[in-house]
Amino acid sequence: MGKKKIYITRNIPAHLIAPYENEFDISMWESETTPVPRDVLFQEAKKADGVICLLTEKMDAEFFQANDHLEIVANNAVGYDNVDIAAAQKYGITITNTPDVLTETTADLAFTLLMATARRIVEASKTIEENKWGDWSPFTLAGADVYGKTLGIVGMGRIGEAVARRANGFQMDVLYHNRSRKKEVEAELNLSYANFDELLAQSDFVLSLVPLSEATEKMFDEDAFARMKSSAIFINVSRGGVVDEAALYDALKNGTIRAAGLDVFEKEPISADHPFVRLDNAVLLPHIGSASVETREAMLNLCLKNVSAVLRGGAPVTEVTE
Ligand code: DGY
Repeated sequence: MGKKKIYITRNIPAHLIAPYENEFDISMWESETTPVPRDVLFQEAKKADGVICLLTEKMDAEFFQANDHLEIVANNAVGYDNVDIAAAQKYGITITNTPDVLTETTADLAFTLLMATARRIVEASKTIEENKWGDWSPFTLAGADVYGKTLGIVGMGRIGEAVARRANGFQMDVLYHNRSRKKEVEAELNLSYANFDELLAQSDFVLSLVPLSEATEKMFDEDAFARMKSSAIFINVSRGGVVDEAALYDALKNGTIRAAGLDVFEKEPISADHPFVRLDNAVLLPHIGSASVETREAMLNLCLKNVSAVLRGGAPVTEVTE
């Protein structure tokens, strides 16, 4: 019997695949930075036993129907809204994601974005680049304090807990809203549970860590922004689809809320002519939540572990079950 085949939808470093090359026949899309075209994905998946994909690939019912021979698809992200889990399950295809390995890195970014937005870091840096640093004056580039404020976290999973630990260090009060209450975590991290509307009304910072699903799509809408304090800062590091972007634009433009820090957008990538780019009170990042070299390697390693385990006939390490 020949070697089992793994297809990877991006070009990843050779040292990551080296430990698996004797055992498996591994091929990759040629580019490190550009997604594989859909027709190439389909052709390559046809020949493969397992696929490692990124969130740039739409792994929908059409894909699974055409590739029902696959044993596993490993999604190189903790979020898996790009994968039709029910369709994969219909054909008995295992789906895995990359939890845990990116928790601390993503929490670092969430807190970085929160602080950068509160203290207007990007705007401040631009004044120097644009040679606009005038004389020191009391309120020039004055932002909002972070320490001692109330942080409301919507979606309390592992990343939420890691952000709450950071917030404790800044003497923040932390509220959270989640599908289920987590009483042990509340006690350990000094969190208070709030319903969604209470959280919106009481928080100085509202942080979205909620996964995108039918239930959460556009949950941050006109009504949600209207419920926030006019001094509130909204931070999103989960998925752009949980926000009604037109409503957020209006809320930022009209002063319904103070500012927003966004790492994710409904349609990515956004370009320089996106309406958010014209707003001084929006700090925008190109989906870099988990982007440290260590973590990105750990994510790919976890995908390789999952695929190799399943292709050897064993159990995956981090299976998505819904
Ligand atoms: C994830 O893992 O879901 C991130 O958004 C990509 O790192």
